[in-house]
Amino acid sequence: MRDGGVIGEGFHTELGDLHAERAALADCRERGEDPAGATMYVTLEPCAHEGRQPPCVEAILEAGIARVVIASEDPSEKASGRGPGILRDGGVEVEFAAGEEATAARLLNQPFRKHARTGLPLVVLKLAMSLDGRTATSPGDSPWISGEASRDLVHRWRAESDAVAVGIRTVFADDPLLTARDPDTARQPVRVVFDSQARLPLDSQLMRTLDQSPVLVVVSPEADPANTIALREAGAEVVVAGGSTPSDRIQAALSDLGRRNITRLFLEGGRTLAAAFLDADQIDESRTFIAPVLLGGDPAATRAGGVGVGWTPPPGGCGGQGSNPPDAMSLRPEQRAGQGGHPTPTTGPARLSALSSRSETVGDDLLITARFKEW
Ligand SMILES: NC(=O)c1ccc[n+]([C@@H]2O[C@H](COP(=O)([O-])OP(=O)(O)OC[C@H]3O[C@@H](n4cnc5c(N)ncnc54)[C@H](OP(=O)(O)O)[C@@H]3O)[C@@H](O)[C@H]2O)c1
Repeated sequence: MRDGGVIGEGFHTELGDLHAERAALADCRERGEDPAGATMYVTLEPCAHEGRQPPCVEAILEAGIARVVIASEDPSEKASGRGPGILRDGGVEVEFAAGEEATAARLLNQPFRKHARTGLPLVVLKLAMSLDGRTATSPGDSPWISGEASRDLVHRWRAESDAVAVGIRTVFADDPLLTARDPDTARQPVRVVFDSQARLPLDSQLMRTLDQSPVLVVVSPEADPANTIALREAGAEVVVAGGSTPSDRIQAALSDLGRRNITRLFLEGGRTLAAAFLDADQIDESRTFIAPVLLGGDPAATRAGGVGVGWTPPPGGCGGQGSNPPDAMSLRPEQRAGQGGHPTPTTGPARLSALSSRSETVGDDLLITARFKEW
């Protein structure tokens, strides 16, 4: 900014691309403006280390920027105030914003901040439910509970995420694609399936669309090696997540995703997987649609905690292709216990109160967004 006018703007589009500071300086020059003597406003402290991109502080000093206003500090160890220090040493006036702007910037940078502090991705849980609290439809029905406007929003959220995750029973029930069908989508999220026994069918839509985006299958160390080999040979990535409880395995899987620089994970369910994430204390935000429909049916199949579907795959796991498992609703009660060597969560129901929440209407649905953590 100079004399109250914007002379250049920039943002960090994705990992490996120009950082916002360099993008803004490039934009400034493209507009025929000289950044020397101007003030730069940044949402995050400029970096001082060599990563995929050279340090931003060098570009700021070279450009002769007179003042930098920083809306939030970088919590990662390699940063920790070094950038502002180098700028000050170079004669640049450095100011940290406070109040509403600082809060807004911190919220904007939540995925980066959580990843920088913990090495784990920020987890946003999406859930759609009927007025009678059901999250699954009957077999043969469209799996969508929410309306079209909400679905469009879900596709946008997928596009904004690095990865989208579901439990294997959602794959069995819905055979989802999990791609972002948003016209502005520049890149597709990685599709992650939590599937401890590596039963993901090789003819599922996910596996048939590997050319659209990668599929990563999180399996347990006890998974049948023949299944994992078949998945790898078919082109999926397989992550082995160890641990004695579902929530331990969530932690292990999230660490692996974090090491792959996945900073935003969009968790699309079902409820069993969501309950395991909650047990692992790994839900940072939730977005819940309540649709004006009643679905009826057996409440045990969709109660909180998600104890539910008990389909046993054909012998040979993912090798048993082409057979569609029955939906939860077609199962006998004795088939609905935790099964297949995957224990249902052993702890009692977890309760997590939101730090803040808001509600709005989206088409005919009500959307409640709740934030549980701040990084
Ligand atoms: N309304 C919505 O927003 C929404 C969203 C998604 C799905 N759904 C519906 O929900 C139903 C499926 O939900 P669901 O609760 O039965 O199953 P789910 O959450 O989709 O999948 C649960 C399964 O994931 C596997 N898993 C692997 N690692 C796990 C871990 N660490 N913790 C927990 N589970 C792990 C387990 O099977 P293994 O032991 O075999 O690995 C577990 O049984 C479907 O009808 C679907 O249409 C609704």
